[in-house]
Amino acid sequence: MAVGMVAMGTLVTSRIEKSVTTVKAASVAFSVNNFIAPHIQELASSEQLSLKKFEDLKHAIDHSGLLAQVTSFRIWRRGGFIVYSNEPHVSQQDFLESSGVSQAWSGAVQVQFDDDIPLIKVFAPVRDSATGSALAVVESHEHVSALDSELVASKWQIWLATALITLNMMGCLFVIVAHSGRIIDRQRLALVERVSQLSEILQQNRLLQGRIERAARKTTEDNERLLRRMGYDLHDGVAQLVSLALLRLDKVKGSPQERDNLHKIHKALSDALGDIRNICKGLLLPEVRSMTLKEALMFMIRTHERRTGTTIECTIAELPDQAPEFVKIALCRFIQEALNNAFKHAGGQGQRIDIAWNGAQIMVEVADRGPGIDDIDRCMRGPGLGLASLRDRIESIGGDVTMNSASNAGTRITASLPLVMEISDAA
Ligand SMILES: Nc1ncnc2c1ncn2[C@@H]1O[C@H](COP(=O)(O)OP(=O)(O)OP(=O)(O)O)[C@@H](O)[C@H]1O
Ligand SMILES: [Mg+2]
Repeated sequence: MAVGMVAMGTLVTSRIEKSVTTVKAASVAFSVNNFIAPHIQELASSEQLSLKKFEDLKHAIDHSGLLAQVTSFRIWRRGGFIVYSNEPHVSQQDFLESSGVSQAWSGAVQVQFDDDIPLIKVFAPVRDSATGSALAVVESHEHVSALDSELVASKWQIWLATALITLNMMGCLFVIVAHSGRIIDRQRLALVERVSQLSEILQQNRLLQGRIERAARKTTEDNERLLRRMGYDLHDGVAQLVSLALLRLDKVKGSPQERDNLHKIHKALSDALGDIRNICKGLLLPEVRSMTLKEALMFMIRTHERRTGTTIECTIAELPDQAPEFVKIALCRFIQEALNNAFKHAGGQGQRIDIAWNGAQIMVEVADRGPGIDDIDRCMRGPGLGLASLRDRIESIGGDVTMNSASNAGTRITASLPLVMEISDAA
């Protein structure tokens, strides 16, 4: 702004100076053309003015009022001869032309400003009325002390005005910036407060999430214990009683019609015993606590192969052997249900398992090349419990389940669980 102020002040003052000198030059040129030019046309054809013309010229100059304003007045002919001057000692004499006179011969009025005296020098060409070429140059000097002091006063006024405008603008800017600064400070404080509130909420959320995950892990383990107890109860209680009933039944004798009925009862009890044993197998997981993760998962895969008489293609990466119990249980149940589905709904075609671990997450993918699923969402909403409980189980302990399937394109179901551990040497 300071630079702009200086530039503006300089420009305006120089324009004023230029305008003043231009006005002066125009007024001199006007007087020259009106009062002097008609009387010196003779100079086009002769070196000197005739006495009559000289007298006419003198008369015209005296009555024009030109001399009232000027201190020095000269009419130059080409070659450095002063035809007329109000200073008698230079009139009708030869002199060396000044730069102003030489330039004025080109036809344009020249103005020079002498700051020291102060003085305005105007050099106005006088034209030949017939040819239009310059036949003389009128040089006039005018003291401009009053004008100069007016100019100085104007300059000061301009500088003052420019400075005031600049200060005003700076003041406005200062107020705007100060106001904006206050708003920004207020907003920053509000933002800091909001961030601290959010951090607090986030902290509470983390605590709650931790509690939920801990509860889910505990539930997984408790469920497992419950399922195991139910399995053992069924196996050791109900299944034993049904076996005993079958043994007793074998010993019962009767009429052929009664034997036929007994045979049917025997068949029904045998089927029930088979079902109970199957249920027990599904309910009972191996005691995973004593197994490594890989052993537990391999156990599930081999059990499925044995039970269904199918084979499963496996790709198993290096895994940490010290995984928490709830992780082992969740992944064993995941493999059990996904393989059951692959056998039940895809006839066990192309069963494949990929298990990978990237140091932070363990990924288990079970795939088949069966008929696939048209609409996964619809299947999830169906009466089957397997997929839904499997997803709940994995998600409740911070994992994720994704399914990819399309009609006749097989099914791929993947579980990802966070698992950060070092690989032990035994793995
Ligand atoms: N591998 C698969 N191939 C083709 N369809 C499948 C596959 N897995 C699941 N489905 C379809 O998704 C449905 C839901 O599966 P989900 O496991 O939830 O139930 P289910 O196996 O029918 O019964 P449950 O698991 O409760 O014994 C199945 O009925 C089946 O139509
Ligand atoms: Mg199922």
